[in-house]
Amino acid sequence: MMPYKIYHFKSLPSTQDKAREFAKKGLSNIIIVADTQAKGRGRFKRKWHSTKGGLWMSILLKPKNIGSMQYLTFIAAISVVKAIKKITKLKTNIKWPNDVHYKGKKLCGILTEGVFGKSSNVVIGIGLNVNQSEFQEEIKNTAASLRTIKHRAFDIKKIKEIIVDEFFYLYNHFYIKNKEQSILKIWKGHCDTINKEVIVITKTKKMRGKAIGVDNDCNLLLKLKNNSIAKIIEGDIQIRY
Ligand code: BTN
Repeated sequence: MMPYKIYHFKSLPSTQDKAREFAKKGLSNIIIVADTQAKGRGRFKRKWHSTKGGLWMSILLKPKNIGSMQYLTFIAAISVVKAIKKITKLKTNIKWPNDVHYKGKKLCGILTEGVFGKSSNVVIGIGLNVNQSEFQEEIKNTAASLRTIKHRAFDIKKIKEIIVDEFFYLYNHFYIKNKEQSILKIWKGHCDTINKEVIVITKTKKMRGKAIGVDNDCNLLLKLKNNSIAKIIEGDIQIRY
């Protein structure tokens, strides 16, 4: 097991930025956790609501094979699904590329960022809604927490420990050994985007089609009406649940 250090803060602007500071000092294998974030961010620079009651953390690593870092997003999502199952018995799913949801309601988002300077690092940010009992207006129809689903509170520290254990298990057994195909196989077992009719919204367009798989770079493959295959590198997926 690779040794790592956890730093816990009451409040931070963003655990991603704190992890970046550590990376610039040449450090890695560090986990940053904060009880609240004033400037939590999601994909596409969206605001990520980070009030007390959620698990907000970033994992800072310096992998040799940083070129495969999209797989770290997959590993994080698998770890979250497994930890939720262990703690709550709930069966959650992954929506490509990085959301963990329960019946279409988002429980967790993951943001993987490269930090390139003297050395190449990667920061995997995980935001999991645990004990919030209500949500802000903009997300109240699309978000859920473990508490809003199970009507009880959970031990955030314990969930964090299980996620971290699962994450490093997958990281050590598969990622650093370049076993991306094994990661993909486990991820597919939890992902409910594949084989569904979906709508993909990218920065420039909106497409409808059938999600038929992911390629070796974790891009989503979308079969369009005219039978051509579109490769989706980034975007949001809408599925009807
Ligand atoms: C997304 O779904 O768009 C990704 C959300 C990622 C949120 C987490 S919370 C911990 C870490 N710190 C941040 O500012 N963002 C990530």
